[in-house]
Amino acid sequence: MATKIILDVDTGSDDAIAIMAAVLSPDIEVEAICTTWGNQCVDFTTDNTLRLLDAMGVKIPVYKGCDTAMTKYLTHDYIEAIPFAPVMHNGKPVIMHSEHLDLPEAKSMAQDMPAACFYVDYLRRTKEKITLVPVGPLTNLGLALRIAPDIAENIEQIVIMGGGSKEANLTPCAEANIWHDPEAAEIVVQSGAKIVWVPLDATHKACVTLDDCERFRSLDNFAGNFAAKQCEQRIIVHNARQPLEIPDAAAVHDALCIAYLIDESVLTDLRHCHVEIGLSGYGEGQTIIDQRAEVIAEERNSYFAFDADRFKFVDILCDCFKNCQVKQASGHN
Ligand code: BDR
Ligand code: CA
Repeated sequence: MATKIILDVDTGSDDAIAIMAAVLSPDIEVEAICTTWGNQCVDFTTDNTLRLLDAMGVKIPVYKGCDTAMTKYLTHDYIEAIPFAPVMHNGKPVIMHSEHLDLPEAKSMAQDMPAACFYVDYLRRTKEKITLVPVGPLTNLGLALRIAPDIAENIEQIVIMGGGSKEANLTPCAEANIWHDPEAAEIVVQSGAKIVWVPLDATHKACVTLDDCERFRSLDNFAGNFAAKQCEQRIIVHNARQPLEIPDAAAVHDALCIAYLIDESVLTDLRHCHVEIGLSGYGEGQTIIDQRAEVIAEERNSYFAFDADRFKFVDILCDCFKNCQVKQASGHN
């Protein structure tokens, strides 16, 4: 039976690849997509999500979410993120997440209900538990759990793209999704729901190379071509800013959460441990992992992935993308 999920995205190049994989996998049923701020403001991430769904010809309800963190920016007492200048490549600027995905304008529209309200409404009414897959800042879910903590009972698991043990990307200590809204992340971690972390330690291992992009492209359909293009841009940016162990490769963070739901063995070192979120000072937004089993055996609140199988990851993505019947996004030249 397919796993029912609600995605929460800040689309975003890797969010887009995650959405395509989820929509095209026979093992996953996407009930709804919530949007959040992060890679861009929520107007753009919502528009990008709608563009992508329209380009694929699929109808999934989209709920627009929050446009800033729950509390973080109410004070000025936070660590500044590293400012990113565009990377120049062949005389042109290349960025990881453009304001608008290079797709025809969206015809479909988001639902009226705000994302946090949708979570409360859906999770209170559902007869079966559902898996949540937040791959942006956790603001919508944090807010929903604050309003209605009882909704945690109907959550099967929360598979979070975020955090890092030995890796960080926005400050010396923090990964972007968690740094953007640490208080929301803390609420989610304390919710009592089963939490699976897909952090940078795993996503940097499950990287996509230029050869993998050729594999995507050889599928000769919209999903393969679009994924190849996004990954190639990501590789340029990674090479300039954060080269990975494998040369000419990029992480496609958010899609690893979807791959995990299709085949759990793609995460090769998943440990049950205790995770705390840094809420202030230099460690703001840090995922602090306490693995002292003998000390905190009763208190383990998370499964945290330390490694991943990149070959399996790319095979899973190809298996999803090959199901795409659309040759080219409609309206595209
Ligand atoms: C995460 O931050 C965003 O920029 C990406 O979409 C991903 O979810 C990686 O740190
Ligand atoms: Ca994201």
